[in-house]
Amino acid sequence: QELQINLEQIEKGGYDHFMLKEIYEQPNAISDTYRGRMRVAEGIIKMAGIDDNLAKLLNAKRIIVIACGTSWHAGLVAEYIFEELVRIPVEVEYASEFRYRNPVIHQDDVVIAISQSGETADTMAAIKLAKENGAFVFGVCNVVGSSISRETHAGAYTHAGPEIGVASTKAFTTQITVLSLIALKLAERKGTISNSDFHYYLQELERIPEKVKKTLESNDHIKFIADTYKDAKNFLYLGRGYNFPVALEGALKLKEISYIHAEGYPAAEMKHGPIALIDEQMPVVVIATKKGHYEKVVSNIQEIKSRKGKIIGIVTEGDVTVKELADHVIEIPETEEFLTPLLATIPLQLLSYHIAVMLDKNVDQPRNLAKSVTVE
Ligand code: G6P
Repeated sequence: QELQINLEQIEKGGYDHFMLKEIYEQPNAISDTYRGRMRVAEGIIKMAGIDDNLAKLLNAKRIIVIACGTSWHAGLVAEYIFEELVRIPVEVEYASEFRYRNPVIHQDDVVIAISQSGETADTMAAIKLAKENGAFVFGVCNVVGSSISRETHAGAYTHAGPEIGVASTKAFTTQITVLSLIALKLAERKGTISNSDFHYYLQELERIPEKVKKTLESNDHIKFIADTYKDAKNFLYLGRGYNFPVALEGALKLKEISYIHAEGYPAAEMKHGPIALIDEQMPVVVIATKKGHYEKVVSNIQEIKSRKGKIIGIVTEGDVTVKELADHVIEIPETEEFLTPLLATIPLQLLSYHIAVMLDKNVDQPRNLAKSVTVE
């Protein structure tokens, strides 16, 4: 028993929980994901799974992403990235819905299955269905040699390293990293982005680990915010564009480990429902970064403020406008718009982590949840 506890402490590497360790591993995990694949100086992205199937991917009429949970949120981010950079229509499906609704699948569809564990039963079944219908299936998995990585026609690993905390953190950001690399490579080949943009985006991606590190420096400030709102019964998370899936992921993190009810919403949809919930008891986390439809989000913030909601803004460094309106702001470094989720997610992970710790919850193994769901 004692030996086991000591071993676990060693594995946690000085952190109180695996989740916190994994949050802090993200700068390295992200660079491990692009290392050896992205050669910035030469302007090259080399990924065997993509290079060997380039024609299929470039000629795809449609991309269907299938996944569950946090991986599904990474798929939503990918939808925005692929449509913007590669101009291929993307649909993102919950694997459990896809597999049971007789979906229309064509031979020139490319299916991307995203799974940290590579063992999720619904995702596996959805892959088999897609294959039976003639689609090419590409896997994005973390666990090497997992069932999904073997079932798919080709794939790319995330190289995040083992993720122990049930609430997914570094798997999510590395999934987005892999998907960004794929989108960039296809966009360059398709000519849907200019050569100079391609080079610039590679440089920006290479700067992300440093910027994640910088974001992690807000930890104490985030802890203070966590302490202020830990007793709230509900939280709302809002974002637009690339930051909409980030809002969903932020809400999921809070639900999973603190058991506080939280909802993520596209900021503009707020007026079609959630606005009715807003009062002085309601903390609203708004991702309001400079490039993400900033003006629109600011007007959403004004709507929240006039209903006395408590506003926690995730903003770009140096922001002035949101700072004046919000009760708290957490700054993240500026980056290219499509890479923003890699930074904006970090404070939301830390916020949920600290709230759960303060409420004395089992952060690494929340009740009723499993790391990988191998049954339906
Ligand atoms: C479970 C985990 C989540 C994960 C989801 C999908 O619900 O608790 O963290 O996002 O499964 O898992 P996968 O391994 O397919 O990414």
